[in-house]
Amino acid sequence: MRVKKAVIPAAGLGTRFLPATKAMAKEMLPIVDKPTIQFIVEEALNSGIEDILIVTGKAKRPIEDHFDSNVELEMNLKEKGKTDLLKLVEETTDVNLHFIRQSHPKGLGDAVLQARAFVGNEPFVVMLGDDLMEDRVPLTKQLMNDFEKTHASTIAVMRVPEEDTSKYGIINPGEEVSKGLFNVKNFVEKPKPEEAPSNLAIIGRYLLTPEIFEVLAKQKPGAGGEIQLTDAIDTLNRTQRVFAHEFNGKRYDVGDKFGFMTTSIEYGLTHPEIKVKLKDYIIALGKELSNEAKPKK
Ligand code: UTP
Repeated sequence: MRVKKAVIPAAGLGTRFLPATKAMAKEMLPIVDKPTIQFIVEEALNSGIEDILIVTGKAKRPIEDHFDSNVELEMNLKEKGKTDLLKLVEETTDVNLHFIRQSHPKGLGDAVLQARAFVGNEPFVVMLGDDLMEDRVPLTKQLMNDFEKTHASTIAVMRVPEEDTSKYGIINPGEEVSKGLFNVKNFVEKPKPEEAPSNLAIIGRYLLTPEIFEVLAKQKPGAGGEIQLTDAIDTLNRTQRVFAHEFNGKRYDVGDKFGFMTTSIEYGLTHPEIKVKLKDYIIALGKELSNEAKPKK
């Protein structure tokens, strides 16, 4: 069976970005000029996904509006002959998007459970907005390619520095069945470095079989008092095979402030409108900072 549906959970509280996220979903924070959620939607479309469900919380309107047409703005741009901008604005309206609310942010597992009726009895992908991925083949498509061979759930993982394991779900890898594709013995949510079974961390892309919903419906709160998707995947792994796919491309962690800033700079350095100015600015700033750092004679 082909994977056609994607679920994008976007109902978290975004506490790491307060106060910006008090009245706005963190998925709407822009990297230069594009909301992070648009990068995710583009990855889904570039992977051949046909239907996307966004699980939203309180700040639902701006996300919905972003992917809807804005007639007034489009007319205005047309009248002024700003065809390039018009194209940018129109690009986001042509997507098959659905929305559902998660009434209480009880955790990522609970957010995914809200997608049960939308997904039905099909395999599907979950894509988190905290991680932007870059590779020759989109990571979601890589997972879909694995599924064609294994027909099993496959979770994207990446090696992280050992001291960072407590920030992630970590896998205990079994046999490497083909290059970069591992059997998984078990999954551990946010282990301390001394307790982590490996440094292969779950990054924000999951391909799941629909049996995950039966597990999620019974899932008790885990780490942080939240219903954890990782715990549910660990349970699923006891009744059917779950694989881990090691990602070798570039990952931008936009879920915290530092990652968000570095991603913005790197994306800015490729942006046709500002790349030259930004580079000159960074070089000048670097010189200034290194002068400041020199010991005074
Ligand atoms: P995070 O762990 O990054 O939580 O969730 P968060 O609330 O968004 O951010 P911080 O940590 O408070 O800053 C991972 C993903 O799961 C979604 C989030 O929107 C994010 O995309 N999520 C999390 C939900 O949709 N619902 C939840 O109850 C929790």
